[in-house]
Parts: sequence; C-alpha cells; structure tokens
Amino acid sequence: CRIRHYKFNVVMKNTSRLCHTKPIVTVNGQFPGPTLYAREGDNVLVKVVNHVKYNVSIHWHGIRQLRTGWADGPAYITQCPIQPGQQYVYNFTITGQRGTLLWHAHILWLRATLHGALVIKPKLRVPYPFPKPDKEVVVILGEWWKSDTEAVINQAIKSGRAPNVSDAHTINGHPGPLPQSSSNCSSSQGGGFTLQVESGKTYLLRLINAALNEELFFKVAGHVLSVVEVDATYTKPFKTNTVLIAPGQTTNVLLTADKSSGRYQVAASPFMDSPIAVDNATATAFLHYSGGLASSASSTTLTKPPPINATPIATSFTTALRSLNSNKYPANVPLTVDRSLLFTVGLGINPCSTCINGSRVVADINNTVTGTRLYRLAYNSTVQIVLQDTGFIAPENHPIHLHGFNFFAVGRGLGNFNNNTDPANFNLVDPVERNTVGVPSGGWTAIRFRADNPGVWFMHCHLEVHTTWGLKMAFVVDNGKGPNESLLPPPSDLPTC
Ligand code: C2O
Repeated sequence: CRIRHYKFNVVMKNTSRLCHTKPIVTVNGQFPGPTLYAREGDNVLVKVVNHVKYNVSIHWHGIRQLRTGWADGPAYITQCPIQPGQQYVYNFTITGQRGTLLWHAHILWLRATLHGALVIKPKLRVPYPFPKPDKEVVVILGEWWKSDTEAVINQAIKSGRAPNVSDAHTINGHPGPLPQSSSNCSSSQGGGFTLQVESGKTYLLRLINAALNEELFFKVAGHVLSVVEVDATYTKPFKTNTVLIAPGQTTNVLLTADKSSGRYQVAASPFMDSPIAVDNATATAFLHYSGGLASSASSTTLTKPPPINATPIATSFTTALRSLNSNKYPANVPLTVDRSLLFTVGLGINPCSTCINGSRVVADINNTVTGTRLYRLAYNSTVQIVLQDTGFIAPENHPIHLHGFNFFAVGRGLGNFNNNTDPANFNLVDPVERNTVGVPSGGWTAIRFRADNPGVWFMHCHLEVHTTWGLKMAFVVDNGKGPNESLLPPPSDLPTC
C-alpha cells in the first residue's frame, strides 16, 4: 500500500459547448475533472484549494470511509464547506474496495461541472475475476446547461417545480457532433469523444453517470457489452445491448472489438419512468477501428436509443444484476435483521399518519419540517430498509444513495410492499451489492447492510433536484466498544462554518 497525493485546485474556466461559452467551476481547469487513480489499500490525500467565490465540498462517492466520515464530503452533514480562499485535505484509506467510483462536489448543484472518475485498481498482482482487458477507458456521462447551473437551481427552488431540463447530455464532456444546421460555430469545441479500438482487442469501459437529474441508457452500435462490475463490486458477468445507469452509479463493461473496421455510434439517452417525461436529448460519441480507412459520417453504423419511457428494458437490466459471490468475493448478505425500517420515498405530501410499522417520510416538499431527519443505529446492527415509492405528484424512479456503506438490494417489486409475503422472495444468496439503487416508479426496493461504520451518513435521492426538494435523511451510527470501532477524531484542518 502506498500514499497517493492529489491536489485539486477549484478554479473557474471558460468552457464552450453547444456554440456557447460560459465560465464553469472546475478542478484544475478540466471538465470532466481529473481521474483519481489508487489501489485497494492505499491511503489517499487530496488537498482541495478553493479559488472560486462559491463554498465547495467534495464527496468520494461510494468510498466506504471506514471511521473517516470527516473525509466523506457532504456539506453541512459531515463538514462545513471549504470557503473561498480556504483549503482542506481529504484523507482516507481505501479498504476492501476496488473498481470504478466517482468524486463530485456535494453542495448545491456544483457537481454539474465538478466531478470526475475514481479508479481503484486491485492490490498489486491481484487479477480481475474476468479476462484481463487490453485497455481500460473511463466514460463519464453528464448533462450540460447553456445557462448557469446556479440560475437553474434557483428557478427550481423558487418555483418548487421541475428545473429547466438540461440542453444536452454529454459523453466525456461532449454532447457529440451537432446537427449540420448548427455546426457552423467554432470547431475548437471538438466534435465529441472517439474511442479508438483495434480489431480483436478487449476494452474495459468504466461507465460513470455524473448527470444531475437523469438516468441514462448507454449503447454501442453493433457491439454487445458484458457487465462485470457495478458501484465497485464485482457482478456475475452478463451480456446486454443496453446498460441502464442512474446518477451516482458506475458500471464496468467489457467490450470486444469484434469487427474488422468501421465507425460505430455510441449513445447515452435518458430514461424516465414518468408520464411527464419530456427530455429526448441523446449524447453521441464514436467507437472507431484504427487501421481502416478514415470513415465518413455516412459510413457510421448508427444505434437506436431506447424510448425515454422504456421501462421493460430498464427493468430487465436491473433484475439481471447479481453479486459475483465467488469464494474470493463472497456476498456477505445479513441473513438476520436487527432493525427493520420502511421509508416512503416520493415527492408531495406524504400521509404518514396512515403508514404502517413506523414509516418515516424521507421526502417532503411541503416544508412542514425543516432540517434533515436523523435515524440512530447501534454499532454493527444489521439493517433492512424498504424504500417505498409514493408518487403523489409524479411517479418517478428514484436512485437512492447511501453514504458510508455498500448495501445489498435483496428485493424489488411493484405496488405496495407486503411484509407478509414479499420477504419470502428476497434474494439472500447473491443480490447485487451497491451504493445507489433505483426505487421503481410506483414500487419498492429492499436493501440490507451492516452498520459497521460509526459516523453520520447521508442518504438521499441522487437526482439533485430531489435532494434540493428534501428527499434526504441521515443515519447516525454509534461508536462500538472495541478499540477500532469508533469514529476517528476530526482532523485539525476540518473547515468551520
Ligand atoms: Cu454522490 Cu451524497 O452523493
């Protein structure tokens, strides 16, 4: 194990997309931000220096932060933000994790442009549990607004209605070639991202959804993708034409370049399981076989993105995911439950007086309660949470993210959860293990985890607009009694408010 030092200078940078230039908040002037590389077991030190006029904090999304909650990053949950002119060193050790995760700003909507990949390699000489790829490529999906994201959020807060939908989705920071009619603006913006491949080789694509408010489908024309990992946990490999990836989720897929030549379209398009779905912007990129003749646009093999409301495609992808659960990487699913919770998840007024079994309202845009709700857990207790969607205003899929833990998604269904019949169908053998899970529109998801990480851990919908509206709460996990069972003391440079 070694120590990895990184320096993140948070600076403004004029950036052009869609024929329009605006200043955006970046790390080191890059959009998307720099990739942070480490190995399992490494100690990572990131010095973040704030040179902009906004308060900033950075979250290492999916990193367990065992006993180091002070480095987790959500503003006003585990730290005060880093104020203009101030700095803070995030100091954490990567324990028992390897794979792809992401880092992003965790205050207001700054993560629109302040995000990047976190690539954790296995320990030295430890192989992947799948064939070694010839090359690895980070693919970050995002969203782009022509206007200031600050203006977009203010509009959403003030009106209480949905924010302006973004003007484009992006693949590694680019929407892709613009339609002919609008392509006469500066070519310096670049046409988009191209993945150069060689025939016969295998590529590991590290897919990250860093978008603010959109679940996305990802496809590559003419190529099948083999899913091998989600949220930095290995899965049983399975083949698919389409990947579904929610904001905050990561998915590693193997792609074999099994054609001899040509150019193939790559597409990221929105999924919204809601009657009010409106956004149809598709980001495109290219997979290009090197060696062959330079292909023209007319010879590109196109892909057809699924319709925005393609719930069956989304569901079949989600339900195909399983933990690898091998001898080396066993799925340690809690078989018994000390704490059984049922949380309603939704926007609108929740009639919680009618909820059963001490349900709690996670979301409430009525502002009847201000502040973040807390729920206390005993150290090392096993916890089950049923997340029940209650779509009073607009039923919608909610990607719920838990800080500080991976959890197992043991069950899922449509309609209302039934405590008498549904638990019998839970998968307690090889359920997928992750840190962000979709609660289906008009349905429920059940998760289990062991509360073995003392500290304060945020749980929220990873659609940024829903976090803003209050779809959030936090767990307080008590210290244990053992010598290594308590939260470490706060670092001396922890920002103050
Ligand atoms: Cu990726 Cu609390 O967020």
